Amino acid sequence: MSASIRATHRHRAFRTAVVPAAGLGTRFLPTTKTVPKELLPVLDTPAIQYVAEEAAQAGADRLVLVVSPGKESVAAYFDPNPDLEAELRGQGKDALLAKVRRAPGLIQAQVAVQRKPLGLGHAVGCVEPLLAADDDAVAVLLPDDLVLPTGVLTTMGAIRQRHGGSVLCALDVPREQISAYGVFEIDDTDDPDVKRVCGMVEKPPPEAAPSTFAAAGRYLLERVVFDALRRIAPGAGGELQLTDAIALLIDEGHPVHVVVHRGERHDLGTPAGLLRASVDFALADPDVGPDLRKWLRNRVRRETA
Ligand code: UTP
Repeated sequence: MSASIRATHRHRAFRTAVVPAAGLGTRFLPTTKTVPKELLPVLDTPAIQYVAEEAAQAGADRLVLVVSPGKESVAAYFDPNPDLEAELRGQGKDALLAKVRRAPGLIQAQVAVQRKPLGLGHAVGCVEPLLAADDDAVAVLLPDDLVLPTGVLTTMGAIRQRHGGSVLCALDVPREQISAYGVFEIDDTDDPDVKRVCGMVEKPPPEAAPSTFAAAGRYLLERVVFDALRRIAPGAGGELQLTDAIALLIDEGHPVHVVVHRGERHDLGTPAGLLRASVDFALADPDVGPDLRKWLRNRVRRETA
């Protein structure tokens, strides 16, 4: 991404970030029977806080959490806890106090309720009644997806200001792994890290994939997507798919671009993915990293001995 494009980012491309968190989390059963996967920690911090940090950093001042009945604790995580704060203050535990106050101070959180898990597209559609008159576009961040290093949403905002329409995030994935993803059909632009999207295919076999650019869970969607969401029919798995609404926008001539993110992604929606992310974060942590590294080396040595 060229510095000149970043420099065109003079005012905010969006102010509302949507975080769909009303799914069943079946890949994390039995834990998700009672604990929302969005509250599972990577090291000591729940997944939901990482996306809230990312949204705030990109300029959002409002986070709309889409939750289902029973997952209210996801939204409660953004409420202050005065009793706990008083207790920690009384004990002089200032570092812990700062951690506890971090989420409520980050961003203004609001809740939209999705009564039934009718799909990601349906979940996003549940936010429409909460939109303000000046919400020309909304960011959607999937809390399952940790996209590192953070900052791609800021770049996506700059691209929206340059090209208009909607902007998504893509990762260049090895072709043999591509059938796990939504895949973009693209045309090049004058920037190697920005592509114009002319189509999208869900989970194609590797030989049929139109590119190796796969959707990561970051979307900057122009408001007209809510109109498209009302017009799509249930797709894969009988769910209303966000991908289908985006495909409709493309068909109807609305500009859609992707920013190619040259970084990493952790899938926090599966036990193995969460474990990898936790190890990754822990190894980088000055308190727990050195001991863990030593332990891991020994553990792996025993495995290979
Ligand atoms: P996923 O398919 O990854 O989440 O949806 P899931 O349905 O909770 O997980 P599995 O597949 O059963 O294990 C991506 C995101 O969209 C949200 C999920 O909470 C997740 O953050 N989502 C999905 C909704 O909010 N509502 C839905 O109806 C479906």
